[in-house]
Amino acid sequence: MNKAIIGLQWGDEGKGKIVDYLSEHFDLVVRYQGGNNAGHTVIVNDTTYKLNLIPSGVIRGKTCYLGQGVVLDPNHFSKEYDQIKKKLVNPKVFLSSNISLILDYHKQLDKINESILKSEKKIGTTAKGIGPAYQDKVGRKSIKLYDLRSIKHIEEKIQSIKKFYDPILDSFDQSKINIDKTVHDLISFYNIVKDIIVDNSYIKKEFKSKKILFEGAQGALLDLDHGSYPYVTSSNTVSSNIFIGSALQVDFQTVGIFKAYSTRVGNGPFPSELFNEIGDYIAEKGVEIGTVTKRKRRCGWLDLVSLKYSCEINSVNELCITKADVLNNLSEIKVCKTYNSKKYDDVNFSESNTLESLNLDDSDFEVFQSWGEIKDLSNFETLPENLKIYIKYIEGYLDIPIKIISLGPERSQTIIR
Ligand code: IMP
Repeated sequence: MNKAIIGLQWGDEGKGKIVDYLSEHFDLVVRYQGGNNAGHTVIVNDTTYKLNLIPSGVIRGKTCYLGQGVVLDPNHFSKEYDQIKKKLVNPKVFLSSNISLILDYHKQLDKINESILKSEKKIGTTAKGIGPAYQDKVGRKSIKLYDLRSIKHIEEKIQSIKKFYDPILDSFDQSKINIDKTVHDLISFYNIVKDIIVDNSYIKKEFKSKKILFEGAQGALLDLDHGSYPYVTSSNTVSSNIFIGSALQVDFQTVGIFKAYSTRVGNGPFPSELFNEIGDYIAEKGVEIGTVTKRKRRCGWLDLVSLKYSCEINSVNELCITKADVLNNLSEIKVCKTYNSKKYDDVNFSESNTLESLNLDDSDFEVFQSWGEIKDLSNFETLPENLKIYIKYIEGYLDIPIKIISLGPERSQTIIR
């Protein structure tokens, strides 16, 4: 059966490691949304791979495909592809010809958008031009990969884009769009990628019958429609977008992935956030620093209320918990089970104002005793008793089995139940 790995929190759940681990059993790994705002670090045999666009399945020699829902920065992709080609023999990567491109003016506009917001209202984007690139897609202005097949098409599009954006760029003292440079750079890029660009007709014929692993980027709580708008990313991160973003109409099972605690980068509501030394400890021990922006991630206890919501909006079939080892030796571990006594079906998760006004107290948390160190991770039964109690409580609350337990960055530190 095909599978989708979907982040259930605010991203950074450890999808890269799990995609790498599971991809052994699949032929094709597919990204269907987002861009280089995502970031994975995967360590295999002492080699570190830093990936933003290309799915980590590439490391196992699997075919990787970036679908039409992805937004792609040509400069960034060229560098990442080059790095992968140096580390791996003949990596198999394909790009949908329908992909919308992120160009320099998108990154300038991303910064302008943030600069006009008051500090407490800033989104805290990754500044990679993601929002403006999706705005152009919806506004029917995008330069698509297929446009690169004709200089005439690029020139026509970029001329009208220039008319539209130059006045804005100019009024914010930003450099205007340089048509000659943009066209030249795009043609050079096309020469690098022309042999790996494929049309939807090819996808249907060649990929539909393969065993597919879909790799979500960001997390369900950053979904444009389901998340805490406007503190979200500009794509639909949830599993239902797989059909649109990949153009593959196939059945799949959804594996929801979450960390044993919560983190969030950027602004927006975070009900179980910790503002004390425990939060600092988790950040340090869990190395909670953004792969893309190097920003310190905000940390908090596991939030089962929002996790239950994420499971529902993604139709999650099974779960994967990561990084419980970061909580080893804490004298007590808490999980959020209600929001001011409200259960998940009484909360509107897309209304950020209400979520921000929450002020949780002790009665909203379940407390667990320390499990000390994890000495033997051969299987679930050999784990410390208190960790098993913790995991079973989560399963019971969510009513979905936790099938994968990841307790470190290495492939060997993974338990399958
Ligand atoms: P954007 O996607 O760069 O527009 O950023 C919008 C919000 O999503 C910001 O809060 C970012 O920090 C957050 N975000 C985007 N991509 C990721 C990710 O891969 N992990 C965690 N947060 C992300």
